[in-house]
Amino acid sequence: VTTDTGYHDEEGLAVYEAAMALPYLGYARYALSKILRKAGVDPATSLDLACGSGHLVKDLSARGWRAYGCDLSPDMVARAAARYPDLRDHFFVADMSRIPPSRSYDLVTVVFNSIHYLSREGRGGLWRSLAETLADGGLFVSQQTDCSARETYWLKQSHVWTAETGYAVWTGGLGPSEDVIEVEKLYFERQEDGRFRLFRATHPYHFFPLAEMHQGLAGQGIEVLSVLDGRTLGPAGPGCQSVWVVARKKACGLQS
Ligand SMILES: C[S@@+](CC[C@H](N)C(=O)[O-])C[C@H]1O[C@@H](n2cnc3c(N)ncnc32)[C@H](O)[C@@H]1O
Repeated sequence: VTTDTGYHDEEGLAVYEAAMALPYLGYARYALSKILRKAGVDPATSLDLACGSGHLVKDLSARGWRAYGCDLSPDMVARAAARYPDLRDHFFVADMSRIPPSRSYDLVTVVFNSIHYLSREGRGGLWRSLAETLADGGLFVSQQTDCSARETYWLKQSHVWTAETGYAVWTGGLGPSEDVIEVEKLYFERQEDGRFRLFRATHPYHFFPLAEMHQGLAGQGIEVLSVLDGRTLGPAGPGCQSVWVVARKKACGLQS
């Protein structure tokens, strides 16, 4: 079954929930809190883009943030609201390349490689949206894979995660153009009788050089402060696969 990027059907949702049960979420919470501590940011208003079923929003809320989350998929937003009813009004449907400018945020996050769902045009929309919705001095934090990882991480390896509920295998394959990889996500859910049920979703991931992101953000008055190695959270060197990009909107607003 091939889904679009919205995780609309039962298969896609099962793959999503499995992925979230895997160690990524604990890692993302840890890394984000460390980055925020280092940046000296006090809790204020935050928005998690591509928030899925809302785990990171809940986590930020528990740490004192007025935390919001948006997702392209109405199913995901409904799931998030059902899972965290105390935050029901904090989830909304929106494309991250067109964030409604109805509120301003001190922190905008996009984790779990979700930025790779955006095409070049979509990324341009995201940079513009950030300029409209980040408060002056507000932070943008993105976890993604570096474009060098397209080959090393996605095309030359498969990734296997195990959890109590089963195990997952993610494998990249060539997409319709050079910058796109089709990531096939298999999830083998352990059944009571010991057998496994297979769920499958395929999502296109778009890769882009970090320089494009630097320029796109800079053009909107948002400065990249650091690019961190996803493993060490120290400065990223050549060949890093997962990176965290930390950027801040300048207080003076748009540059010419
Ligand atoms: C791996 S999940 C993100 C995990 C989430 N941050 C959490 O804490 O649970 C990826 C999500 O990206 C969403 N998505 C894909 N394209 C999107 C877009 N253009 N705008 C907003 N959300 C998008 C999908 O619907 C999916 O829920």
